[in-house]
Amino acid sequence: MNEKQLNTEDPIKRFVEKETEMDEMSPMNPPEAFAPSTAEPVAYNDMAPFLQKLMDEHKIFIEVLNKFESALISWKKNDWAFNDEIDNGLKELFSFIDKNTPVHNRKEEKELFPLLHKRLLESGEHSTADNPRTAIDIMEDEHIKVAQLGALCLNFLGLGSRIEDNKSREIIFELAFDQGKAIVDTMRLHIFREDETLFPLAMKLISKEEFEEMDTS
Ligand SMILES: [Fe+2]
Ligand SMILES: [Fe+2]
Repeated sequence: MNEKQLNTEDPIKRFVEKETEMDEMSPMNPPEAFAPSTAEPVAYNDMAPFLQKLMDEHKIFIEVLNKFESALISWKKNDWAFNDEIDNGLKELFSFIDKNTPVHNRKEEKELFPLLHKRLLESGEHSTADNPRTAIDIMEDEHIKVAQLGALCLNFLGLGSRIEDNKSREIIFELAFDQGKAIVDTMRLHIFREDETLFPLAMKLISKEEFEEMDTS
């Protein structure tokens, strides 16, 4: 396949267009009004057990992200040739996004976010638009964004591996690399926002009894 063919290749065009759309509505650069005020820091030991469990899962995810990022960098340096270490670093992230992340996100979305969204609205921590948005909307958008980036990255990896022309394969792998880096950047920021801003705010706005009712399984 030559480059000309590649540019008109439907799936690529569709992926690229989709990615452009995603960037336009990206929650990575939310208007200032969406950003919650800085919360008083809360030490891990003083966090509700429900939040501690989410924070423990964040730590594991960060380790997976670090390994994935190292694998991506080695892969690029290695002129897009795979080896066991690169394979493992990439596979671990995709398996984590497939198995662990949906369970973690569901816990946040079902147990914590609805009540916290309500309390943020009540306490004035929201945008001033007609349909006020809170930090919860940004977090939920990011959950979707990372799932989409994961699917894009995996698709580019699969597609690139099937292309024999070196130049074309390189272009596709470069795209897979970019999606992978975006996963790492988005997730690191997402976890930082939850640990440092959202969860301390939750401690202020949600009672001990309400946290105890939340399902940690
Ligand atoms: Fe989250
Ligand atoms: Fe989280």
